Amino acid sequence: VTQSPSEANAGLIADLIRDVPDFPKPGIMFKDITPLLARPSGLAAAVTELVAASPRDVDLVVGMEARGFIFAAPIALALGAGFVPVRKPGKLPGATVSETFALEYGTETLTVHSDAIPAGARVLVVDDVLATGGTVAATAALLKQLDAELVQVSVLLELTALDGRAKLAEHGIERVSSVLRA
Ligand code: PRP
Ligand code: MG
Repeated sequence: VTQSPSEANAGLIADLIRDVPDFPKPGIMFKDITPLLARPSGLAAAVTELVAASPRDVDLVVGMEARGFIFAAPIALALGAGFVPVRKPGKLPGATVSETFALEYGTETLTVHSDAIPAGARVLVVDDVLATGGTVAATAALLKQLDAELVQVSVLLELTALDGRAKLAEHGIERVSSVLRA
């Protein structure tokens, strides 16, 4: 069950996300969350709204390096769930599974420890931004490799023009919640 963010929180969050044109490449409008993170009320509003939009009955919260970590860990704490990092290659010391995918700018590989997510675990996936959906789709594929259950995807900001939600639907991922859409 998802809830709408309070208007005050939504306004605060939107005001603290900075648009940076042509970063990291020409033609990309980068959504910079660092002003939001630096403001105590902004960080609290973001975590509060993400928690409000998330299901209670999850075993694990997965966050994707790097910006997903920032929100996934406090959400896990609030839900009484564990946190599992999905990382870029070469960072995890144990046996991993991996997925390579196309990103809004370039290609990327994501990995997760094979033993971090038991088969059948109920998993909430958290990231800051849903753009093309490549990062979430790859993470969903990692969960599938491990026979875990993706219960919901929760993001702070959904860039609707990039149609990530449609891409995720093509992969059978229907439960996607965003606090803000731009
Ligand atoms: C950004 C953002 C999301 C992803 C969204 O991460 O944090 O994870 O892009 O794009 P997508 O929906 O098209 O996949 P980025 O790869 O820039 O790295 P970072 O989180 O390490 O900064
Ligand atoms: Mg990211």
